[in-house]
Amino acid sequence: MADDKTKRGSPDSKRLNKSEPYEMAYARKKAKAAGKRSGTAAKKTARPSAKARATAAPAARKPRAAKTPVRSAPRPPSGEKTTENTAPRTMKTADAIDLLTDDHLQVSALFKQYEKLAKKKAPAAQRQTLAGEICAMLRTHTTIEEEIFYPAARKARIEASLLDEADIEHASAKDLIGQIESGNPADDHYDARVKVLGEYITHHVVEEHTEMFPKCRRGGMDLVGLRERMAARKAELEGQLTDRPVDNPPMAASAESPGILTRIGDTLFPAIHP
Ligand SMILES: [Fe+2]
Ligand SMILES: [Fe+2]
Repeated sequence: MADDKTKRGSPDSKRLNKSEPYEMAYARKKAKAAGKRSGTAAKKTARPSAKARATAAPAARKPRAAKTPVRSAPRPPSGEKTTENTAPRTMKTADAIDLLTDDHLQVSALFKQYEKLAKKKAPAAQRQTLAGEICAMLRTHTTIEEEIFYPAARKARIEASLLDEADIEHASAKDLIGQIESGNPADDHYDARVKVLGEYITHHVVEEHTEMFPKCRRGGMDLVGLRERMAARKAELEGQLTDRPVDNPPMAASAESPGILTRIGDTLFPAIHP
């Protein structure tokens, strides 16, 4: 009778079929192990190199799962820009903040243009025309903010101190705008005034974008409805600028004889230009 140690360690303990002869059991096990090894080796050798994979016929490659198609605007064959092909992929209804942001970008671009003109000492008329455009744009922009956007924000209980600061910054900017409109571009300080106005506006715009607008977006304001009102008022103000008859060219501007933009400012902002 075999002892336990012999039984546990003996090949007999590993035989499933006790009637199977040892020789056959070993042969089967050996063949199985050899098959595993050869299978692994086969796998290793069967894997093609990167180069081989790159040059492999497409049909031999494993087909990839189809990707979900990304919605993109169709482009006309002519390459012509349309609202369909230039619209962002994720469409959303434009709102009041989008309108104000467009203004900020436009006026920022104008300030950059002015900086270039001042750097190359462009003719006074050229600088004054551009400065006038900047001032007119800022007057319209500040008006729609003060008449429509800021009051709506106050009504929505957006942080009052932010809106108070914005009002003060507008007043400072408008003071400088008045000086530029009534100033003479030949004056030494004319370019400096435009530059400082640009710095004021940049500071103010950064505060609007980083502090005020995020709160407005979260504050439950009807920003889409506000946009309609602001766009209508903006068009009205711009219409007043273009409809007003020009008695004298802008170059006639001086402290004694203010230019067209100053006179328009007098009409739109009598409190600023008493
Ligand atoms: Fe503002
Ligand atoms: Fe603004």
